[in-house]
Amino acid sequence: MNLTMDKLVNHCKTVGFVYRGSDIYDGLANTWDYGPVGVELKNNIKKAWWKRFVQESDNTFGVDAAILMNSRVWEASGHTTGFSDPKMDCKECKMRERADNLVEEYCKKHKITGLTPDAMSNEELEKFIEEHKVPCPKCGKSNWTPIRNFNLMFETSRGVTDESQNKIYLRPETAQGEFVNFLNVQRTSRAKVPFGIAQIGKAFRNEITPGNFIFRTIEFEQMEHQLFCKQEDAQKFYEEYKQKAMQFLLDLGFPRENLRYKDHDKLAHYAKAACDIQYLFPVGWEELNGIHHRSNYDLSRHQEFSGKNMTYLDPQTGEKYIPNDIEYSIGCDRLLLATLCNAYDEETLDGGDTRVVMHFHPFLAPYKVAVLPLQKDLNDKAREIYRNLQKHFMCTIDEAGSIGKRYRRQDQIGTPYCLTVDFDTLQDNTVTLRDRDSMEQVRLPLDQVVSYIVEKIQF
Ligand code: GAP
Repeated sequence: MNLTMDKLVNHCKTVGFVYRGSDIYDGLANTWDYGPVGVELKNNIKKAWWKRFVQESDNTFGVDAAILMNSRVWEASGHTTGFSDPKMDCKECKMRERADNLVEEYCKKHKITGLTPDAMSNEELEKFIEEHKVPCPKCGKSNWTPIRNFNLMFETSRGVTDESQNKIYLRPETAQGEFVNFLNVQRTSRAKVPFGIAQIGKAFRNEITPGNFIFRTIEFEQMEHQLFCKQEDAQKFYEEYKQKAMQFLLDLGFPRENLRYKDHDKLAHYAKAACDIQYLFPVGWEELNGIHHRSNYDLSRHQEFSGKNMTYLDPQTGEKYIPNDIEYSIGCDRLLLATLCNAYDEETLDGGDTRVVMHFHPFLAPYKVAVLPLQKDLNDKAREIYRNLQKHFMCTIDEAGSIGKRYRRQDQIGTPYCLTVDFDTLQDNTVTLRDRDSMEQVRLPLDQVVSYIVEKIQF
């Protein structure tokens, strides 16, 4: 099915997955709000990730660190000086653009291969733009200012009086919350290397480039995992996390042919290896997550800047060292976007009708079951069933409209099961369960419904 981003945005708004942020005020660029089914989907994505990478891991510990951190953290991490985008302004229409994006789009359009714009220096980018007279996407002229580097961190200040004001930042990644808690977690959990620290939380980046819906936003959630290990084991764990990250996506129902590994063209000086997993979004192949072998850079830098000793003492061998780190990082909102793209389908039914259906993995579906009484007289019984099911999972009830319309409403939000209550239910306590994907129906005793659904929605 040929899904466009516009179609998906429209569907999300219509059924309540995602709305434009500050909608009644004409929005705020690159911000979005999750609606009733969107927030359930997002919670379930986070649950699936946590289950896989924390709950089912013998040696990973979760944290939930503060968004606002001591500014020295960002000096140590290099964000204060190095976390910037190369921006140019069009002198004609004042449009601000990322220079590497301009080059990338130009190369795509003119089928120029072999260049990696995000690995080019500012001088190389400027030279290319000058030589090829790369036009402004808005006004079509090619009259650019020199490149200026714009830091992506959002600044704020703390303190109530001007004198005590102190510049601080909204964190641009959750990772530093894991690094600064390395010693705390290791001690309080008596963790032995190799062990992991994981976190899900908000991050903020002052992205100016238009974002393709929730692909690139200024406020987003990351799910990050740092695996601390010995240097000689780091490459092995890097490969392992590449596999684990891929398997997680496959288990959520992404077809392998829509996913690919992409090694980074340019490595940071301390990094030993880095790759992304890309997904084939409606706009083309784009990064979904990253796996990075970061050597012992982060812990060493925090040792240097904080003065705290980050050395790990191996209780068995007596060896002392600063562990290496394998980082696995995935944007929750970006995974949600990929999940929506992967699930969206338009099907023609027998008889010629069409239905929009979201084929979510049942674990991710916002509601697991919708209760549908066939007649008004059955509403009381339906409510009783609904209240009982609510104790076990998120469900919904829909008493209005033809049964066909009600099925369609559940299909378009991806509810895996519709439970119909009919007059036989009053006699024999059985109900019909209709499967979203096959549309097949089974008749079940009411007391078996919960266990039937629990088994089907496992992840
Ligand atoms: N700690 C490593 C780190 O933050 P990153 O590649 O900058 O690495 C990791 O970000 C992931 O976070 C990306 O793969 C993407 O899924 C998500 N992400 C990054 N910037 C984003 C943005 N502006 N909007 C939404 N998701 C974003």
